[in-house]
Amino acid sequence: MKVIITDSVDEMAREAAGRIAAVIKEKPNPVLGLATGSTPIPVYNELIKLHKDEGLDFSTVITFNLDEYVGLAPDDKHSYHYFMKENFFRHININEKNTHVPDGTASDLEAECSRYENMIDDVGGIDMQLLGIGHNGHIGFNEPGSSLASLTRVKNLSEDTIEANKQYFKDLGWMPNKAITMGIGSIMKAEKVLLIAQGKNKADAIASALEGPVLSMVPASVLQQHRFATYVITREAALKLKLSYYDDTE
Ligand code: PGA
Repeated sequence: MKVIITDSVDEMAREAAGRIAAVIKEKPNPVLGLATGSTPIPVYNELIKLHKDEGLDFSTVITFNLDEYVGLAPDDKHSYHYFMKENFFRHININEKNTHVPDGTASDLEAECSRYENMIDDVGGIDMQLLGIGHNGHIGFNEPGSSLASLTRVKNLSEDTIEANKQYFKDLGWMPNKAITMGIGSIMKAEKVLLIAQGKNKADAIASALEGPVLSMVPASVLQQHRFATYVITREAALKLKLSYYDDTE
């Protein structure tokens, strides 16, 4: 595993965006796995900057997002479809047809989950999967206790996650309690994974994920078994790591 510890969120964003840009430049039809939440926003801003200032070309890029809330239509401003459009896709030259987010309003959710998983396999899998991490160690909406081999499916959100995300639903008066999420097994199929974290409130989750045992109670810990996992985290998020050599490893 590679652990890059940065002095600021800006540096985290530049480091992560640089790695994503390298994949885009290296492959003819790059397939990116994307994430939502507050942490990826500065990374998307950095990629938008690379597009505008340096011509980073997204025209052949294919994307798959990790997850979507059940019950929210794509044009609902609380949905992850909307989040991706607003924060990233509308600012770059990506072909909308190449962007994929699970459909949380599908009449047959189980069929939607298989369709989504198959679509990823059909394009040859994800070249690089961007991930945030929850305070509870979740990746995507794979909450503690998720099967480490799980594929795309519907999950109940944990109380922790509802607590962390309810701020985004204040005006709506309700919040979905289920989501479609790529599974841990789906994430592990990606050729490379890139996990980003910032802030001291992520320090416990980062320490358990990187240095604790591999446990379904800490879903991110399974990345210890990934062949190409990179963690780009701020010094605050790294606060509880015990090993001290990370700074020098690349
Ligand atoms: P955050 O969410 O980036 O908003 O902290 C991360 C996550 O829950 O995966």
